[in-house]
Amino acid sequence: MKSIAILTSGGDAPGMNAAIRSITRTALANNIKVYGIERGFSGLVYEEYVELERHSVSNIIQRGGTILKSSRCDEWRTPAGRQKGARFLEKLGVAGLIGIGGDGTFKGLYHFSEEYDIPVIGIPGTIDNDIYGTDMTIGYDTAVNIGVDAIDKIRDTADSHDRLFLIEVMGRNSGFIALNVGIGGGAEEIIIPEQEANVDDIAERLFEGRKKGKTSSIIVVAEGDDEGKSYSIANKLKRLSGMEYRVVILGHIQRGGSPTAFDRYLGSFLGSEAVFGLINGHSHEMVGLVKNKVKFSKFSEVWNKKKNIDQRLLRLNYYLS
Ligand code: F6P
Repeated sequence: MKSIAILTSGGDAPGMNAAIRSITRTALANNIKVYGIERGFSGLVYEEYVELERHSVSNIIQRGGTILKSSRCDEWRTPAGRQKGARFLEKLGVAGLIGIGGDGTFKGLYHFSEEYDIPVIGIPGTIDNDIYGTDMTIGYDTAVNIGVDAIDKIRDTADSHDRLFLIEVMGRNSGFIALNVGIGGGAEEIIIPEQEANVDDIAERLFEGRKKGKTSSIIVVAEGDDEGKSYSIANKLKRLSGMEYRVVILGHIQRGGSPTAFDRYLGSFLGSEAVFGLINGHSHEMVGLVKNKVKFSKFSEVWNKKKNIDQRLLRLNYYLS
């Protein structure tokens, strides 16, 4: 194997740089050249790349975002776009591609792998953690910690004003972030897309809490497919309970900043294993971490299967609140 290419695609995630660094240094140590494709699949379509040397990835392990930049590429959704990408990879002469990203990236890698024989390995990198075949995705731990830190801060002002706060966290189709942020931050209620919220019941529980002497409350809401949905929930709660509220939407703050130690470790470990995966003949597979062991899963499985939230966490929050 003489050379490989790497790209980062979809929403960036803290820890992607650790993965880029690890892929680059593992490959170079094994005499493999590395090309960094810029702006995700778009760089394959429009032939934008840089050659990565050891020093190109110095001083990036602590940085959020991705030095290769990212995008959501419409052309990659078409066979013609993917054909341009395949031709470019052939022109570069690479023996394999490593793609780091979330569900959209895996969809793109899956279709590409169905059409072309170029070896491809995927690495799960998204703050959402909604990828089948790995316990944790790169960036999730950082996003959860940012969310918990925000709750700790908001709790001070919520308490001072005896207020109800709704804190909306990211997670387009999934409640992984909301569940862990809610439990870690000691929220009274957690609303996730996987389970329909009964606002009447929530109002009732808030009311009961007030009767027992609770003066402020925190509700964590996963944005789901409707960013800003916390406002309509909050209005309904006000009508039912009369409680004054404030809404905080954390949004993209959760995607930035320095990665946690765990995300640096995960990015570094999976990055290196992806390179060995290509060397050892793996292809059309994602490398993940399951029960602390490296696991390769076929793209078809990753793309077609849904990772479910752990229902016990909802029960746990009910007991804790
Ligand atoms: O990275 C995943 C994610 O953060 C989702 O939780 C969120 O809804 C989405 O990306 C928003 O991304 P963008 O604003 O880049 O389209």
